[in-house]
Amino acid sequence: MLKGKTVVIGVCGGIAAYKVCEIISKLKKLGANVRVCMTDAAQKFVTPLTFQSLSQNAVATGMFDPVKSWDIEHISLAKAADVMLIVPATANIIGKISAGIADNIVTTTVMATKAKVIIAPAMNTQMYENPITTENIERLKKLGYVFVDPEGGRLACGDVGKGKLADVDDIIEEVITHLLYEKDLAGKNVLITAGPTMERIDDIRYITNHSSGKMGYALARVAARRGANVTLISGKVCITPPKKVNTIYIQSAKQMHGEVMKYSKDMDIVIKAAAVGDFYVKNQADGKIKKDKINTIELEKNPDILQTLGQNKNFVLVGFSMETEKLSLYSVEKLKKKNADFIVANDLTHEGAGFGTDTNIVRIFHQNGETEDLPLMSKEKLAGEILDRAARLLK
Ligand code: C5P
Repeated sequence: MLKGKTVVIGVCGGIAAYKVCEIISKLKKLGANVRVCMTDAAQKFVTPLTFQSLSQNAVATGMFDPVKSWDIEHISLAKAADVMLIVPATANIIGKISAGIADNIVTTTVMATKAKVIIAPAMNTQMYENPITTENIERLKKLGYVFVDPEGGRLACGDVGKGKLADVDDIIEEVITHLLYEKDLAGKNVLITAGPTMERIDDIRYITNHSSGKMGYALARVAARRGANVTLISGKVCITPPKKVNTIYIQSAKQMHGEVMKYSKDMDIVIKAAAVGDFYVKNQADGKIKKDKINTIELEKNPDILQTLGQNKNFVLVGFSMETEKLSLYSVEKLKKKNADFIVANDLTHEGAGFGTDTNIVRIFHQNGETEDLPLMSKEKLAGEILDRAARLLK
């Protein structure tokens, strides 16, 4: 995913320096080239050898080290960076960067780079909340530096409060976002539904379907990376919610209908990727129906959420269709009946398409009668393609 991208990490002197090991390892697994520079204080916590081994690159530790080549280290690092990450960022380094001080390998590299600089602070709560630090952070934010805010919790010094390094995955997410995505959906409100619905039979049993939620979650993740304010209304799935997304869990189609109607008013784009159950159980029982008492389950039609949205829409509306036969015929019918701007159709008989897979192969049906066949691709790549088409329809 990050092949061909270079992440330069500036490590500073805080106990959270050990977490940089995991960050490097994860970035390497994503295919990034990782180069590390360290302040003197950082080297008291973790040795350069550790980062050298994990990054498979020499680690820069000082500006006056004996030369290995005639490149000036901080300039060559600054030029190589596609993104620079400062982690853990101490009050000291934030103060120095904010004041334009360049007196070590990390600060000189920051000063010399044109790449986006992402700063992940970690420090004692009093230091973090000190107005000097707050002001420095505000100043740097205004200058375009990106912060991954620390979390609250028990700190290494024993205090409880804000200052714990952000979750490693949140830091990685920020790096991915800046390396791979434009913020073309900034300020746009996007609503996505995902996963299956569950229709209750009694307190023990329910009717559901095979939807894994992967397509809808990929849409939410990519929309958030592209800067949108994303609301995800999700059925029960086994995947972690995407970062920076407002995820609301529901069970039944009626609950999904209620939440969608509540949120859809302020939306620019609504994408209905959920596999909504067509029926609910009319004769639901309290407690557990005993085996010998079960006779007939009566089914009643659920509201069609997509169709309701299509009746009075002031947003771009995208639907999905999943068929095992007559894909075109049924999808065009759906497009007309539900008044979506386009329908993303997958044929379940195609290998690599549909439920549970990490890939999809789809045909897109547009209102103007055009159809597009997209080749087999990852759900994440397809999410980008769908969002591109929805974004083009925005007024
Ligand atoms: O009619 P069908 O269920 O095949 O249509 C699929 C599309 O309609 C999907 O976008 C799905 O999320 C949406 N849908 C809905 N409410 C329903 C059934 C389907 O919003 N009750």
